[in-house]
Amino acid sequence: MVTASDSDRLVVTGASKSYGRPGSRREALAAVDFEMTRGQFVSIIGPSGCGKSTLLRLLAGLEHPDTGSVSLFGSTPAEASAAKRIAFMPQVPALLPWASVLANVKLPSRVNRRADARREAAERAVAGRPDARREAALPVAAAPGAPAAPRYSQPTPRAAADPVALLTELGLGDSLKALPHELSGGMQQRVAIARAFATQADLLLMDEPFSALDEFTRESTQDQLLALWQKVGSTVVFVTHSVPEAVVLSDAVVVMSPRPGHIASIVPIDVPRPRRSGLAESAALHEYEDLIREKLRLAGVELS
Ligand SMILES: Nc1ncnc2c1ncn2[C@@H]1O[C@H](COP(=O)(O)OP(=O)(O)OP(=O)(O)O)[C@@H](O)[C@H]1O
Ligand SMILES: [Mg+2]
Repeated sequence: MVTASDSDRLVVTGASKSYGRPGSRREALAAVDFEMTRGQFVSIIGPSGCGKSTLLRLLAGLEHPDTGSVSLFGSTPAEASAAKRIAFMPQVPALLPWASVLANVKLPSRVNRRADARREAAERAVAGRPDARREAALPVAAAPGAPAAPRYSQPTPRAAADPVALLTELGLGDSLKALPHELSGGMQQRVAIARAFATQADLLLMDEPFSALDEFTRESTQDQLLALWQKVGSTVVFVTHSVPEAVVLSDAVVVMSPRPGHIASIVPIDVPRPRRSGLAESAALHEYEDLIREKLRLAGVELS
């Protein structure tokens, strides 16, 4: 039976994963335990090959753990995925090259209508829960100056559904009819962000979405992602190799050890929001960056 607390938590318990044939199996993830609350933004950082993408695939239901379990707000990843409650954003923006910017963002709402019906049924069940009204009354974003605290989102963040409004908010209002190849890398990545938010998924899984961007574009895209997330309040799991990026974006940073990956440390980032990347006054953010580098070193990661 799903309890109220299950429906507000993402929980990974003892999840392990190996690849290869019997006799020559390689352990990618070793007994990962990890938990976060609905509405949080959590980053995963660790060296190449430590299993970050593997962990995201387990959360997305694209692969199954060999041992252990994954619960996404009381559902299995397969159930959540079938009801379109998960949006997955890979490293390279997977846009349809022949479709316009607007058509790319509208795509998820046009495919798999049966999933929409499943989701509506699940939402009706949530709305009937005694705690649903309490959830809806909770603030989506912390007030400026308030300490970072676990945040709860409304079950469905309807406000962000309009693809044109989303693209306009991301600075692409003039490019609705453009084709992906007519856009810069940063613009393409912003289209992919708009598409992820347009699905109104409960859970956004982002696998190094900004790694190919130059520093300036990366910082402005981070700011836009944060602004959108604070408005919408979905739950985000974000993989990155960048310590400053992890710190500025996150409520907590999960530090992973080299292969076989396990969680070496979880660092809550207690810095008020709204935050912006590159701010000179962000001494507190720099202290967290140093702390995370230290945790990575302790986990056996060689930093340049
Ligand atoms: N489909 C697969 N078949 C075999 N081995 C795999 C597969 N997927 C991942 N692995 C192995 O599992 C380990 C973890 O891979 P994963 O892609 O999750 O690492 P990562 O932390 O995302 O690395 P990077 O930072 O380079 O993206 C690696 O040793 C990789 O070779
Ligand atoms: Mg990866």
